[in-house]
Amino acid sequence: MLKNDLFLRACRGEEVERIPAWYMRQAGRYDPDYRKIKEKHTLLEICKLPELAAEVSLLPVHKLGVDAAILYSDIMNPVASIGIDFDIVKDVGPVIHNPVRSAGDIERLKPIDVERDLSHVLDTIKILRGELTVPLITFAGAPFTLASYIIEGRPSKSYIRTKALMYSEPKIWHNLMGKLADMAATYLRAHIQSGAQAVQLFDSWVGSLAPHDFKEFVLPHVQSIFSSLSDLDTPKIYFPGVSSGELLPHLTDLQANVVGLDWRVPLSEGRRRTGGKFAIQGNLDPYVLTAPSEVIHEHARRLLDDGMKEPGFIFNLGHGLYPEASLEKLKLLTDFVHSYSEEKISSGVKA
Ligand code: CP3
Repeated sequence: MLKNDLFLRACRGEEVERIPAWYMRQAGRYDPDYRKIKEKHTLLEICKLPELAAEVSLLPVHKLGVDAAILYSDIMNPVASIGIDFDIVKDVGPVIHNPVRSAGDIERLKPIDVERDLSHVLDTIKILRGELTVPLITFAGAPFTLASYIIEGRPSKSYIRTKALMYSEPKIWHNLMGKLADMAATYLRAHIQSGAQAVQLFDSWVGSLAPHDFKEFVLPHVQSIFSSLSDLDTPKIYFPGVSSGELLPHLTDLQANVVGLDWRVPLSEGRRRTGGKFAIQGNLDPYVLTAPSEVIHEHARRLLDDGMKEPGFIFNLGHGLYPEASLEKLKLLTDFVHSYSEEKISSGVKA
C-alpha cells in the first residue's frame, strides 16, 4: 500500500511537504548485498527470477529511505523479444551478437510480445506493488540510445556506425527508430497495466547529437512514445541523458510530466529552457559523492534552493550511480534532502 506519494505529487507539479529523492541506478554494485547476489547470478538471470529481482529493487528503498523504487532490469531486456541477441558483459556493458546494420536486418525485427517473452518483468512489477509503500518507477530505453547499442554492437564513444546510418540512410533509420519506439510504447503500457506508477524513458546518449539532428532524426519518435501513452495518467519522465542541455528547448511539446537534467544545466535554467512545462528531476554530479559529507551537503543545499523555487522538483543525480559510491554517504544525502527541504517548506517556501 502506498504510504508516501511525494514523488508522484512532485511529478505532477503539486505541493509537497518535503522534496522526494531517488537515484538513477540505485539498485546496483555500490551495495555489498547486491554484489553478493551478483556472485551467484548474472544481471539477466536476476531479471528472470521475479522474487530476486524484486528483492534487489527493494534493497535501496530500505537502506537509503528513498521516495521511489525503480524496477531492477536493464534498458536492453525487451530487445530480445524483437529478435536481438545480447549479453551484459562484466566491465563492458551490453554486447550484441547480431548487430542491426542493414535494411534487411531492420526488416527482420519482430514486434515485441511482452506476455510471451517478458512476463517475468510483469511478475516482478506485481510482486513489488504488493510490498512497496513508495511508488514504483519502471523504464524503457529510448530509440536513439537503444539504436546506439544494437547498431554498434557494444558501448561506443563516437556512435560512428549509428550516425553513419542516420545521415546516410534516413529512410532505414526512421524505420528502425519507429520500430524501437513501438517497442518502448508497448512495453511501458504493459508495465503500467501491471502496476507501474511512473515510467522513465532513458535516452542516455542522445546528447551526442546536434539539436537540429535530434529534432529531425529522433524527437518525432520520442514524441510518438509519449503521445501513444497519453491516455494513461501515470507520470512519465524523459531523461535525455548527459550533455543534453542544448536539446532542452526542443522538448516543450512532449506529452511527459518530468524532464531529467544532467549536472551541466542549472535546475532553474532547465525549467526555463523547457518552457516551465515540466517538473524537473536531477541533477547532482554523481562524483560529488566522492567528497566529504559537508561538501556533499553544500552541493545538495544549492540544488534544493534552486529546484524549490517552483513546484515540481525531484532530487536525483545527473546520471547513474557508479560502483564505488558509498552507501553511507548516499543515506546521509537522502536524509539531508529530506530534512533541509522539510524545514524550508514548513518555514513558508512553496515547493
Ligand atoms: O536504476 C536502477 O537501479 C535500475 C536498474 C538499471 C540497470 N540498468 C541495471 C544495470 C537501469 C535503470 C539501467 C538502465 C540502463 N542500462 C541505461 C540507462 C541509464 C544510464 O546509466 O544512463 C543504460 C545506458 C544501460 C545499458 C547498460 N547496462 C550499460 C552501459 C551497462 C554497463 C555499464 C556499467 O555501469 O557497468 C549495463 C549493465 C548494468 N545494468 C548494471 C546494472 C546494475 C551493471 C552491471 C551489473 O550489475 O551486472
